[in-house]
Formats: sequence, structure tokens, C-alpha cells
Amino acid sequence: MRDDSGAQREGFGVYVHWPFCLSKCPYCDFNSHVRHTGIDEERYVRAFAAEIATTAERAPGRTVTTIFMGGGTPSLMKPATVGAILDTIGKHWPVAPDVEVTLEANPTSVEATRFAGYRAAGVNRVSLGVQALDDVSLQELGRLHTAQEALDAVKIARSAFERYSFDLIYARPNQTPAAWRTELARAIDEAAEHLSLYQLTIEQETPFAALHAAGKLVIPDDDNARALFDVTQDMTAARGIPAYEISNHARPGAECRHNLIYWRYHEYAGIGPGAHGRLMIDGTRHAISTEKRPEAWLMRVEGSGHGVIEDETLTRVEQADEYLLMGLRLAEGIDPARYAAFAGRPLDPARIAALGAEGFVETLDGRLRVTRAGLPVLDAVVADLAA
Ligand SMILES: C[S@@+](CC[C@H](N)C(=O)[O-])C[C@H]1O[C@@H](n2cnc3c(N)ncnc32)[C@H](O)[C@@H]1O
Ligand code: SF4
Repeated sequence: MRDDSGAQREGFGVYVHWPFCLSKCPYCDFNSHVRHTGIDEERYVRAFAAEIATTAERAPGRTVTTIFMGGGTPSLMKPATVGAILDTIGKHWPVAPDVEVTLEANPTSVEATRFAGYRAAGVNRVSLGVQALDDVSLQELGRLHTAQEALDAVKIARSAFERYSFDLIYARPNQTPAAWRTELARAIDEAAEHLSLYQLTIEQETPFAALHAAGKLVIPDDDNARALFDVTQDMTAARGIPAYEISNHARPGAECRHNLIYWRYHEYAGIGPGAHGRLMIDGTRHAISTEKRPEAWLMRVEGSGHGVIEDETLTRVEQADEYLLMGLRLAEGIDPARYAAFAGRPLDPARIAALGAEGFVETLDGRLRVTRAGLPVLDAVVADLAA
């Protein structure tokens, strides 16, 4: 985003998607695929380079402030592959001296041996998918690592990177608030500055969805899920690592700058199979997404230099709705004036008042935010305000 003098005022992020995993976890509906025949990383490096070049031609002149390699399992890439992708980004856009470069890693011992290589390649932040700190839960989640292996990987991450985070999934089958309190206390002890704590969601067409529908997987009901959410909010706040987004917790100043670009609705490029971007082109915001299937994406990129299959210009109202949807996830909330600038009209004061009377939203320092009571019904709050 630029001001009147043409200077870049906000961050510009580059997301790179690595779509492969060693096995598919039964709860996961991310764009991740298992390939038993091996993956030609050099071929993907060439395709990533082509798509980065094409994207930079459409969105030139930005200074990259964050890069995020997500997946799938990016820690299956060789460090040389990661280095080649980062070098290509640096050839096509200027990169800020304090760029944040995050890589998502699975916490197996094999992957942890590559951390020093990623560091040397330019990664300065790692996000580990620990998911649970007990082996029975890890098995139920279909994970390929033990709790000890995950803790060892956290230790290696701590010595290799100045910044690291890890993910846990809670509201798992049979999980009680007392058990979660103990597990979370341990997690906070191991965390440095950032934790992502996701409530288990049953995603359509996953094995968990089938088990759930058959009554073989019972997750906490709304009251229990709410109690687990309250434990999460209270404990992290008390330990100085409060929620800055509905599922993300950080010491002040240690927020994931890349994800803040999404939630603050700034500009980012999406590279790789199934990646999404929001780019300002000729003064208009474009919603761009690429082919999801890795081999089909490769063929498209090799044929035409990019894997884009959708490129939509967003109307003012669509931008306003996206801003609301993303921004209300944040503890800092949204700027109603920015909403009004997108929508061409302000938010409805009667709706804000009604949601405020129910205790779901509040206005603080001129910003509209969702309260603790409103977060569990965030989707309904957004739908009400956006309508
Ligand atoms: C792209 S995924 C994973 C990164 C890495 N492949 C891993 O599994 O460690 C990002 C995170 O989303 C979370 N996640 C995925 N599916 C979920 C679900 N159904 N419910 C809650 N959290 C989920 C997990 O915590 C996971 O670490
Ligand atoms: S949770 Fe991570 S490792 Fe498991 S399938 Fe999804 S992306 Fe792959």
C-alpha cells in the first residue's frame, strides 16, 4: 500500500506453498498431498522462479517485508531448495533488511537436522506443528512424531533461530479443562514469544468428518469447548503471551508480521500450488489464486509462467467485507473509517449498538473490536455487521 508520494507504507508479504507431506493427517484439509514416487525439487524450484518472476512483473517495486513458506510440510524441502526460492524473491523485489522469513516445520528428528541449513539459507523464524504434548493424542491425530521428539525439535529450533513458534490443537476428543491446563502450562514454559493454539475443527471430507458423523469421534460440546477456550485466553494472558488474534498468542512485539499482513488486509503475493494473493494492480485490489493440484500447477507454470486460475477484481463492498472478516479476528480490531472508505458507507450504528448491548463488540480508542464473549460467535458477528 502506498501513500501520495508513492512510498510503501505497509508491509508486503510473499507466501510460498509447498504442497507435500509424508502422510495425510486425518483432521487436515490443507492443500497437502502424499507422493510415494519422490519429488523433483529442482523442477519445482524452476517453476517457483517462473511464477515469482511473473508475479513481480504484475506487482513491481514493492519492498518485501515478510516471506512465509507454508504447507503442506515445507521442512521436507532441502535447504538448497529453500535458499534458491529466497534468492529468486530477492532478485525480483527489493527485500527489507529486517525481513521476517518463516518456515513451517513438522517436528520430527529428521526435519530438525535441517534447521541449521534453513538458517544458513535465510530463514529466521520457524513455526513447528507440535499439535499435542502427549503421545496418545498425537497417535489419535495421526502424527508421525512423539511428544519427546517434538520437544527436542523445539529445543533445536531455539538454538538455530532467533524466533520460533509452535502450534497446538485443543478441544480434542475427551480433553478436559484440567488436562488442557497442565498441557498448556508446559507449552508456555517451552514457548519463547509466540504460540498458535487452534481449536480442533472437523473439516468436511476428512477422515475425522466421517468418524464424527458415525459417532466414533466425539469432540467437546459447545460448553466444554468454551471452557477450554477460556482456559487458553486466561492462562496465556496471565503468562504475558496474550491472544493478538483469535488463535494466535505473542509477547507484545513478537506477533507474526506475515500473518498480520493478512489480518490487517494489506498486500501479499501467493506463489505455488493453491496459493492465494491480494495484489493492488492499477489501483484495484485483485484476489488471485493458483491451481491446487501440484502436477497440474507445474504444467501450467511450465506452459505460461504462472499457475493462476482465478483473478478477480474486488468491488468496494467485497473489500470492506474481507477487511471486516480478517480484522475482527485481531484483538486490535478494525478502523471503522477504513471500513467506510472501502464500503462507501459507514457500518450501521444500530447494529453496532445491538451487538454492543449483547456484549459481543466494543469500541476502544476509535477502533471496533470483538470481546471475549463475542469471539466464539465471531462468524455470526461478522455476518451481522457485513449484511
Ligand atoms: C498448514 S498446517 C501445518 C504445518 C505442518 N505441516 C504440521 O502439520 O506441523 C498449520 C496448522 O493448522 C492446524 N490445523 C490443521 N488442521 C486443523 C484442524 N482441523 N483443526 C484445528 N487445527 C488444524 C495445525 O495446528 C497445523 O499445525
Ligand atoms: S497437518 Fe501438516 S503434516 Fe498433517 S496433512 Fe496437514 S499439512 Fe500435512
